Amino acid sequence: MAGPSTALLSARRLYDMAALARRVAEGWAPLPHQIPPPGDWYGWLLLAGRGAGKTDACANWMIEHVNGPACMPGPIPHWMAIIGPTLGDAVRSGYEGPSGIRAHDPRAVKVTRDGGTVIHWPNGSEAKVFGAHSEEDTDRLRSGGNTCAVWCEEMAAWRYLDQAYAQMRFGLRTGEICTEDPPEHGRDSRDHSGQSPPDPRLP
Ligand SMILES: Nc1ncnc2c1ncn2[C@@H]1O[C@H](COP(=O)(O)OP(=O)(O)OP(=O)(O)O)[C@@H](O)[C@H]1O
Ligand SMILES: [Mg+2]
Ligand SMILES: [Zn+2]
Repeated sequence: MAGPSTALLSARRLYDMAALARRVAEGWAPLPHQIPPPGDWYGWLLLAGRGAGKTDACANWMIEHVNGPACMPGPIPHWMAIIGPTLGDAVRSGYEGPSGIRAHDPRAVKVTRDGGTVIHWPNGSEAKVFGAHSEEDTDRLRSGGNTCAVWCEEMAAWRYLDQAYAQMRFGLRTGEICTEDPPEHGRDSRDHSGQSPPDPRLP
């Protein structure tokens, strides 16, 4: 199947750059529902309709985490993951898109290496990008290392939901998860929370 045309890619890029310019000019600030809940939690589930600001909220949360105290000693203070329905979705929504990390934080750059794609910050923090569409994707998650923060983008649309979620949880040793989903998705990501909205904390 042919990929997007060059013209479409250029238009997207212009749109993303316009979104970034608008954010910088206006000064993006989170709305109350985009501020992580207080207290000791490991999972924050954002279950809200289209355009509610879920992706923006998770991007902002991850950047605040990067700017916060180091989770690990050494040159990589935070080793994180962004998981989407596919690898392309995760890159597009989590980084490149109008609500992704790049639109919030121009210091973050996408780097593709032999081992995969990571988002890299000047302080050494990195977020590796994953899909949840195939057994190969879940294998990659298994070998993705121990993370301190994970962003689960549109989790109910993950084809390998159970396997990918399990691998993600094994890898998340000490940190937090930001999960987001529009409620119209057929599958119920609350299966993994054991709690129902409006309580945004996962056990
Ligand atoms: N705090 C904010 N202040 C002003 N505008 C915002 C804020 N948060 C999000 N928006 C705007 O709302 C729109 C939707 O945001 P976002 O993409 O994060 O929503 P979403 O819930 O992830 O949507 P979808 O369900 O389509 O993935 C964007 O155009 C964004 O600019
Ligand atoms: Mg979104
Ligand atoms: Zn961390």
